[in-house]
Amino acid sequence: MSDHYSPVVEHLADPETAREEGRRKMDWALQHMPILSELRESFLADRPLEGEVIAMAMHVEAKTANLVELLADGGAEVAITGCNPLSTHDDVSAALNAHENITSYAVRGVDDEAYYDAMHAVVAHDPTITVDDGMDMVKLVHEEYPELIDSIVGGAEETTTGVHRLRAMDADGELRYPVFAVNDTPMKRLFDNVHGTGESSLATIAMTTNLSFAGKNVVVGGYGYCGKGVAKKAAGQNANVIVTEVEPRRALEAHMEGYDVLPMDEAAAEGDVFITTTGNRDVITKEHFEVMKDGVLLANAGHFDVEVNLEDLDELAVDRFEAREGVEAYEMPDGRELNVIAEGRLVNLAAPIALGHPVEVMDQSFGIQAVCVRELVENGDDYEAGVHDVPDDLDREVAEIKLAAEGVEYDSLSAEQREYMDSWEHGT
Ligand code: NAI
Repeated sequence: MSDHYSPVVEHLADPETAREEGRRKMDWALQHMPILSELRESFLADRPLEGEVIAMAMHVEAKTANLVELLADGGAEVAITGCNPLSTHDDVSAALNAHENITSYAVRGVDDEAYYDAMHAVVAHDPTITVDDGMDMVKLVHEEYPELIDSIVGGAEETTTGVHRLRAMDADGELRYPVFAVNDTPMKRLFDNVHGTGESSLATIAMTTNLSFAGKNVVVGGYGYCGKGVAKKAAGQNANVIVTEVEPRRALEAHMEGYDVLPMDEAAAEGDVFITTTGNRDVITKEHFEVMKDGVLLANAGHFDVEVNLEDLDELAVDRFEAREGVEAYEMPDGRELNVIAEGRLVNLAAPIALGHPVEVMDQSFGIQAVCVRELVENGDDYEAGVHDVPDDLDREVAEIKLAAEGVEYDSLSAEQREYMDSWEHGT
């Protein structure tokens, strides 16, 4: 086993023990990842990614690590760093770094300078493919390493915020290679964003605080895919759910689902727990903190740490202290304490005990990532610069592997049904 240079190895007191622990976490996850396991068999046999260099900025934990190894087993050289300074598991980063085709630069809790140094170190591998969660790697390549763009066949983007940013970049005519919107495909968004974010955000908040949701007013900021999951699972734990929205149809959906829908100005005084899932900024600000109950919990499940305005909160506070590991209490002039979980960063990944989404949903998301990377290598020339939907046949391929692994059988259309569905001539 030979390590490449990596700051994580230097940082760890006992890298060998860390590597073993990281490997154990990866092995546990892989047992519940039938899609990656099946793809691994074909990737090992066919080596479809031979000769490619993949630059990744993703949450470096056990499930992602299995994707990274799959890509390396497919023949690629892979360099990876984190996409959030608090979501890295150092032991997993060390385990990855021991693979001869993988270099991991991710270290938990680094400052901004070290975080961006690691991004630059990844790009120094001269990637031919980028895989992002939040678009930072695409941005860095375009802004600081444009000379690499001609040799980059394409990229894949994991999350809603990254896809939003890429579409904005594309609309400005600035995106210079094709990127698959992995987030937007059914096998990702309908499971990862909904069930994954719902279950893991609530589990992380419960474990971090040792508090229950039952009987509490849980305010969910944003009723998109993630918000729907958080609301549904909170209701399943006997919370009273209040939704805030800015989009009329989403507000109506929440209303028809039976939730209270209120402006944040009103919800602020009602909530016991606040969870933002908007991908937007300043969802909870000064005027809201001023009317909140004593002891509220504030958490964010959106990609960036700008949904709960902590600068406003800090300005109002007369004191701040660590109330529990992962929970910071801000004391207001009137004595109320407002508790921020995981520094307002995406709670299910950045809290000290956070494990991210359940393994099963990440198997789906990363299965899509893997087939998208394979598609870029095999047919990259067919895609122009810009954001692309994941081809439907790739989404179906991953769904079929998952259903077979679960032992779920389903019907298929007969020739007559297919002909009927494709025809416009049948009427009453
Ligand atoms: P989405 O676009 O489906 O939903 C966002 C919703 O927030 C929309 O309905 C929008 O109208 C609403 N919204 C925007 N500004 C608002 C405001 N000021 N107040 C109230 N509502 C507002 O997006 P999706 O897929 O639900 O993702 C949301 C965020 O979560 C993104 O940042 C995404 O990257 C992130 N994400 C986080 C995950 C995690 O593991 N924590 C997993 C997947 C996505």
